[in-house]
Amino acid sequence: MPRYEHPIVVAGTGLNAEVIASVIEGESMGTVVAFAVDRDHIKEPTMLGRPVIALEDMVVLYPPSSHCVVNSIGYNHMNRVRGRVSAFCRESGYILPGFVHPSADLSADLRYGSNLIAMQGVVVEPCTKIGDDVVLWAGCYIGHHSVLGDRIYVGPRAAVGGTVTIGDNAFIGMSASVRSKIRIGAHALVGAASFVSQDLADGAVIVPARSVILDKTSDGFTYFH
Ligand SMILES: CC(C)(COP(=O)(O)OP(=O)(O)OC[C@H]1O[C@@H](n2cnc3c(N)ncnc32)[C@H](O)[C@@H]1OP(=O)(O)O)[C@@H](O)C(=O)NCCC(=O)NCCS
Repeated sequence: MPRYEHPIVVAGTGLNAEVIASVIEGESMGTVVAFAVDRDHIKEPTMLGRPVIALEDMVVLYPPSSHCVVNSIGYNHMNRVRGRVSAFCRESGYILPGFVHPSADLSADLRYGSNLIAMQGVVVEPCTKIGDDVVLWAGCYIGHHSVLGDRIYVGPRAAVGGTVTIGDNAFIGMSASVRSKIRIGAHALVGAASFVSQDLADGAVIVPARSVILDKTSDGFTYFH
């Protein structure tokens, strides 16, 4: 991804925002000038040495004619908050170029919407389509001919097979695996390390069997395989 054309306001002040701002600047891809959140979410006046401003003041302080917004807000409220903030920014006239890490391997023919966040080592195979405000966290894999809607979050190391359809606002947890040709409904929640081998309805929740903590200590495991 080329350097950003304009200085960047990062939307969000959570850990995701800190990571994304650090990576953008660490890779010398752009300059983060401020962080922006809803006024009643401001807890500290600065973050990473940059001002934290109210989204409501952003147009005046960092106008869209000379700034862009990278929306780094995570998956709280099933990605609705990120979607709402992006909608506000677009209505206010901002371009949301997203962030694609240089090590992400996105197929050349990929069609994707605005504010795509694709972190280190993401792989997206050919013939795939991705909507707006999608987050692909580090190391996840999206198989060929898959179609992802808007406001989806795919966690680290999750694997989505080929020809999978994922509805708006769905969440795919870290290290989850989705078999090929599966349809995942809108707002579905796939818990970390789940294996999805059947279609999920809108709003469905799937979790894996829980690992058990043994009533033993590691002292009894000298040579193990
Ligand atoms: C499934 C998940 C969302 C549950 O999170 P949570 O709500 O914080 O966890 P809780 O332990 O409070 O569980 C909530 C309910 O789900 C149930 N539950 C959670 N995991 C379960 C499991 N593996 N098996 C059975 N029930 C489970 C709990 O029993 C609880 O039920 P209750 O409300 O009737 O008591 C969570 O385990 C998960 O997978 N998070 C995704 C993490 C991730 O990938 N993050 C991205 C990293 S960047």
